[in-house]
Amino acid sequence: MQNIHVISHPLVQHKLTIMRDKETGTKAFRELTHELSQLLGYEAMRNIRTELIDIETPVAKTKSPVLAGRKLALIPILRAGLAMADAIADFVPNAKIGHIGMYRDPETHLPIEYYCKLPSDIEVRDVFVLDPMLATGGSAILAIDALKARGASNIKFVCILAAPEGIAKVQAAHPDVAIYTASIDEKLNDHQYIVPGLGDAGDRIFGTK
Ligand code: PRP
Ligand code: URA
Repeated sequence: MQNIHVISHPLVQHKLTIMRDKETGTKAFRELTHELSQLLGYEAMRNIRTELIDIETPVAKTKSPVLAGRKLALIPILRAGLAMADAIADFVPNAKIGHIGMYRDPETHLPIEYYCKLPSDIEVRDVFVLDPMLATGGSAILAIDALKARGASNIKFVCILAAPEGIAKVQAAHPDVAIYTASIDEKLNDHQYIVPGLGDAGDRIFGTK
């Protein structure tokens, strides 16, 4: 597999284990989603552009790097991706946030788009698509299609868990999009849920089941 980054840091893996546990309640699950999203987002932003500015420390004048411009876009896939966007926006508060609304049809498991509102200058931004779960890959592909159709070209996909089937599909459809995840799990089950997975991410974040 190419263009995939598995964040194997012990802190990430520790938090992921607690998220997977079915005994973990909504409050803890939401907090862990927040923390894990920041750790994954930190890795996904490793190569974002910086520029040197002149500053003066208490000791000397120097040139020091800052983020170049305000050219980041966080694009959560609704609804589970919202929790990730909130978390990552904490450390890049100038990033613009676009939303793509999508749900999987319970019968066909195919994604259905119901909403799309993006920053107007999406084509000049480094775009981070956020969704905790990459299962069949259908939602990720449709979201990336929608972004590219509006001119976005520099796109990364950040998720908490990914299934091998979904990764293969996304990579076939969008080989230019790097995927960042905390784990590549074993497989999908008959309901197209990730195994061992963590269940329904949206329901566990928002307490809807
Ligand atoms: C989940 C998840 C992804 C999608 C992944 O959303 O948050 O968006 O499924 O599955 P896929 O890779 O097979 O497309 P869901 O449809 O449960 O909607 P929700 O976020 O509103 O709960
Ligand atoms: N969506 C989820 O929330 N969980 C899965 O395992 C697959 C899709």
